[in-house]
Amino acid sequence: MSRDKEEKIQIAASILSADFSRLGEQVTQVLEAGIRWIHVDIMDGHFVPNLSMGSQVVRSLRPIADKFDALLHVHLMVEEPERYLADFVHAGADSVSVHVETCPHLYRAIQEIRALGVRSGVALNPATPLLVLQEILGEIDFVLIMTVEPGFGGQEFIPSSLDKIVRLRRVLTERGLDQVLIAVDGGIHVQTAGPVAEAGATVLVAGSAIFNDHGSIADNLRELRTAIAAHHSNKGE
Ligand code: DX5
Ligand code: ZN
Repeated sequence: MSRDKEEKIQIAASILSADFSRLGEQVTQVLEAGIRWIHVDIMDGHFVPNLSMGSQVVRSLRPIADKFDALLHVHLMVEEPERYLADFVHAGADSVSVHVETCPHLYRAIQEIRALGVRSGVALNPATPLLVLQEILGEIDFVLIMTVEPGFGGQEFIPSSLDKIVRLRRVLTERGLDQVLIAVDGGIHVQTAGPVAEAGATVLVAGSAIFNDHGSIADNLRELRTAIAAHHSNKGE
């Protein structure tokens, strides 16, 4: 992989695994380390078996992100996501993704996100085939491929997801839609980040690999970046 392409691979920090008593401080550390995507996981206890946070967290993080010219990405893991789109955009989201499994009127939901003036994404559970994207790919800014069942941080990456990412990259290239980002979410750490980037992902979402007790945020990010770079150089590209 060329250096040019390598630099296009972004790490997004999922705050789900952060220490919420020090959220602003930890997000600042991530941004100081050069990360420009903050990923905010919204869970309703229905679509996924867990509760997380609401739009007030986005509102609180907005001024911190602004200091670094960073993006706040909202990943809605909720039933009837249409009900919350305006709320999250008004709180300061730069992009919003909805799960196709929650959205029978996906076209309308995507148009609503675009009309609100932010980037739109469609998220897919591990068992949801890429085929569901066929009619909507030309309307969206990114696809969020879940590589674990959504709901919790710290789960194991599902290995068959690599092939799904390769196939999505192929479809985007064939259709001349390479500007559509492929974000990959779940189980990203030093062992999986390289192969995921190599498969064609453009944004790697990582939570527990960044926020943990083993290392500082800066060290963890350095290791992730090294893993991505080492994988590419092993390939001899
Ligand atoms: C899971 C969330 C993820 C989660 C990833 O449902 O969508 O964003 O934070 O956590 P890790 O990186 O620990 O798998
Ligand atoms: Zn997520």
